[in-house]
Amino acid sequence: DKGDYPHHMLKEIYEQPETVANAMRGRLDDSDSTAHFGGLNLTAKQLRNIDRVVMTACGTSYHAGLVGEYLFEELARLPVEVEYASEFRYRNPPMDPRTILVAITQSGETADTLAAMREGKRMGHPALAICNAVGSTIAREADGGVYLHAGPEIGVASTKAFTSQSTVLTMLALYFGRTRHLSSLQGQRIIDELRALPDAIRKALGCHEQVKKIANRYAECNNFLYLGRQYLYPVALEGALKLKEISYIHAEGYPAAEMKHGPIALVDPHTPSVFLVPRGNVFDKVMSNMQEIKARRGPVIAVCSEGDREVATVADDMITVPDVPEYLQPIVTAIPLQLLAYEIAVLRGCDVDKPRNLAKSVTVE
Ligand code: M6R
Repeated sequence: DKGDYPHHMLKEIYEQPETVANAMRGRLDDSDSTAHFGGLNLTAKQLRNIDRVVMTACGTSYHAGLVGEYLFEELARLPVEVEYASEFRYRNPPMDPRTILVAITQSGETADTLAAMREGKRMGHPALAICNAVGSTIAREADGGVYLHAGPEIGVASTKAFTSQSTVLTMLALYFGRTRHLSSLQGQRIIDELRALPDAIRKALGCHEQVKKIANRYAECNNFLYLGRQYLYPVALEGALKLKEISYIHAEGYPAAEMKHGPIALVDPHTPSVFLVPRGNVFDKVMSNMQEIKARRGPVIAVCSEGDREVATVADDMITVPDVPEYLQPIVTAIPLQLLAYEIAVLRGCDVDKPRNLAKSVTVE
């Protein structure tokens, strides 16, 4: 049921303040300043022994895994590798026995993700699933896991699953961090910041009117670039995927500084670049990448912090998002990119909820 919304995708975008709150419900523990999960099923010994994490997934879930890589490195100091499930299943990578596997999947039925998880289990690694669909094959076959509790996602383009997966990965990084080097004060700060997240998402949704205007200006373009660094590099990939799959526009996501190693040759006045440039550690670096694009006469759409005057001196168009700590920026900045893809697809008359050539879950390899 779409309610008052014209498409499932738009409804699911607007559900995100609640779905992210649902992912956290009952899992934040103030007494130990950590997160708790009912079903990880790891013994204390396994938990202590873990020294490496392999995440495996496809599509949007793979992008959430890339966010997870930054989160686990920063908050838990655990080395992470993120592998496309379709690649991992046919490789035979040397795996340290103390590695755990994390399969990330909305549907729990993606054939490649299932096969990759089975392969990891066969090699003797504990496998956790971060999954939305309760009772799905991957949820059943995993040794343990965390449900998203996001409710059914009907639109083929994954939206609320991505923000919930990123939220669960943040809580897992907090949990592993607290068994290692994170102090209770640091843990408590993260808990407080997580609690403020649904409100920040609500505010981010307030950019919809800005996004509609921008969609109108650029809907005719046939090529887009999406650029971000660090935590926002995976979001650049995700923004490009959203635009490709529902509006059939060619879009590429890149780490912003990688542009000058080739892709900048694509830049011209008809190729907009969507920059993820909220305030944070790499702000100045991304600003100079933005200037490089402007110097080649490429239009710049910036997703940035409210009232950022410095960005305004370079960007042609701005979409503002509320300030959150850097490790939560992927969740907040994904919102305008979902809306941008949605509005452009609608303007181009595309079937938003059921894009051509795509199925909601890919159960063949
Ligand atoms: O159900 P899963 O999360 O395993 O699905 C993985 C991908 O097929 C999925 O994310 C796909 O890329 C989406 N259509 C992207 O919006």
